[in-house]
Amino acid sequence: MTANGPQTVASSESSGSATDAAMTDDAPLGSPRVDDAVIESRDLDVYYGDDQALHGINMDIPERKVTALIGPSGCGKSTFLRSINRMNDLIDIARVDGDLYFHGKDVYDDDVDPVALRRKIGMVFQKPNPFPKSIFDNVAYGLRVQGKDDGDVEKKVRTALERAALLDEVEDQLDSSGLDLSGGQQQRLCIARAIAPDPEVILMDEPASALDPVATSKIEDLVEELAEEYTVVIVTHNMQQAARISDKTAVFLTGGHLVEFDDTGKIFENPESDRVEDYITGKFG
Ligand SMILES: Nc1ncnc2c1ncn2[C@@H]1O[C@H](COP(=O)(O)OP(=O)(O)O)[C@@H](O)[C@H]1O
Ligand SMILES: [Mg+2]
Repeated sequence: MTANGPQTVASSESSGSATDAAMTDDAPLGSPRVDDAVIESRDLDVYYGDDQALHGINMDIPERKVTALIGPSGCGKSTFLRSINRMNDLIDIARVDGDLYFHGKDVYDDDVDPVALRRKIGMVFQKPNPFPKSIFDNVAYGLRVQGKDDGDVEKKVRTALERAALLDEVEDQLDSSGLDLSGGQQQRLCIARAIAPDPEVILMDEPASALDPVATSKIEDLVEELAEEYTVVIVTHNMQQAARISDKTAVFLTGGHLVEFDDTGKIFENPESDRVEDYITGKFG
């Protein structure tokens, strides 16, 4: 058991579990069940007001692997990602139906504290968004805000920067502003901030799409390394990137449907769905 083992996000015992919950007719093509699931989505619907953005999403996310979410713009990738750590709660008109289990506990149960949940399931966004603070304080922020400032902050900040493959580049300037870093360094700083509180899952929404090719390839290398310790879920519109760095791939298509989920090699070499094949080969999207 590692430091990233199962930890509860609520005070009470788990009530429901997806383990026995069969996937329904909405199950995508491919192999949406995995043996070592950390997250299980069952019949998940998400609405913005009267508009339904996701329809009956059924899929598992395996532990300490990279799972890529791909598909054309507007198909619900970001919406699905945000439903995992309840970031959609912050959008007034968003409403979620169905079940989303994290270690067998439905994160939408009344007794789940979303702040505690986000400590376990951290997030990195498309545009690097460091705070106008020092490099050190950016990373320490994640610890302080979550009450983890137990006197060991300096060590934890350095460890997080090291895991985010940034320490070597900033070691001598920890007191200078995070905003003075390059775009790629800023994104790695945001990754360090996300991993400082020692989450179990890291959600990344197109983390490299605002970066140049060199910075992008550093982020890609980093994602693969992170999966040795964390479960990574990454949205990308770059199919080559998904093929390169992910173990599992979920293909969402227009209208908010998960069409196919399987090992990345299978999705890119021999998908079951003709629509997925057309999308992968660039016939649309
Ligand atoms: N905050 C929001 N308010 C209203 N509608 C939204 C909001 N965010 C996303 N949507 C809608 O939900 C659908 C899915 O969007 P999104 O999850 O952002 O797709 P993707 O990340 O695949 O591009 C789109 O039709 C989008 O317009
Ligand atoms: Mg998006």
